[in-house]
Amino acid sequence: MVFSVTEDIKYIGVDDTDIDLFEGQYKVPNGVSYNSYVLIDEKIAVFDTVDKRKTEEWLKNLAASLNGRQPDYLIVSHVEPDHSASIPAFLKAYPCVTVVGNEKTFLLIERFYGNTVKNKFTVKDGEELNLGKHKIAFAFAPMVHWPEVMTSFDKYDGVLFSADAFGKFGALSCNEDWLDEAMRYYINIVGKYGNPVQGALKKVSAFNIKIICPLHGPVLKDNLEYYIGKYDTWSSYKPDEEGVFVAYASVYGNTACAAQKLAKKLKESGVKAEVADLNRCDLSSAVASAFKYNKLVIASITYDGGIMPCAEEFINKLKAKNYSNRTVGFIQNGSWAPISAKLMRTAFEGFKSISFCAEAVTVNSALDKAAEVRLSALAAELSK
Ligand code: FEO
Repeated sequence: MVFSVTEDIKYIGVDDTDIDLFEGQYKVPNGVSYNSYVLIDEKIAVFDTVDKRKTEEWLKNLAASLNGRQPDYLIVSHVEPDHSASIPAFLKAYPCVTVVGNEKTFLLIERFYGNTVKNKFTVKDGEELNLGKHKIAFAFAPMVHWPEVMTSFDKYDGVLFSADAFGKFGALSCNEDWLDEAMRYYINIVGKYGNPVQGALKKVSAFNIKIICPLHGPVLKDNLEYYIGKYDTWSSYKPDEEGVFVAYASVYGNTACAAQKLAKKLKESGVKAEVADLNRCDLSSAVASAFKYNKLVIASITYDGGIMPCAEEFINKLKAKNYSNRTVGFIQNGSWAPISAKLMRTAFEGFKSISFCAEAVTVNSALDKAAEVRLSALAAELSK
């Protein structure tokens, strides 16, 4: 896919709609895009390559954009292979190109691709590259999402090449709304690194940004405060909105029934509630939904004297992404020795700034009047 971003900058990235799992684990029903850009001035700079699954298509896009000229620079924002795996093929096609990166960039390129790069320009944070009328300023963004990540800002057009930041799942051709898949992408891919994202946001706030060119998802041109505001919220581990995410792990439907009844009571009290079946939903979506709201309830049966495995995995994923600043409640089910609520609470030890609901609901096999009363008390507590 080739289109103009500005008069001098072209998008030359590719859609991947055949991929089953991004990063080997995340479902991407609408595919993903690997974005790449070329800036044509007195000198020509290419911004990042693409996954090896799409090398040939990308090289054709690039060649079609060059009008017979040769690129001078390849600027490498990020060495994760979804953006760097076509570097060897690119350098074979354009052997005179100078690769631009920082010390960590070249270390990682060598680890992945051996001694591929002959002509290197090692930049320091804040350094600039002169392409003609376009001057590119580099702002390092370590751990957004790897240590070598750097953003590039074209001062002439006000374009921020933001690496993984502001990206989303979903091929460009699917043309879907940005928010949900951008949040699922951010929380699961970059969510652990909130503090580095905060640092990067502060650093790039010095630029007069008019356009954001991420490595995945659409080029962002309008209402940039909205996208930057979302990143500020997510990276500071604040909820997007008030509401309760009710996640359940059920076997015979009784725990599911308790979770659904809680959600119904919450909605009757005017509280937004979203319910998910942890055994069947995509866990990366469940993790994103947990981050979306300020309150979470996990309902799990007691299984093998522990927590139902999918609920345990869910909690582990929340911990890996530094889930914090929320209120959490529990519903447990057990026919003879219910203990999952206690174990789930223990599993939350070590999380930062989590407060727990006073009311923990116990279901003994199936909902009875006593459990319903406690469900109502939990709903009342969550509605405060
Ligand atoms: Fe899209 Fe961290 O790579």
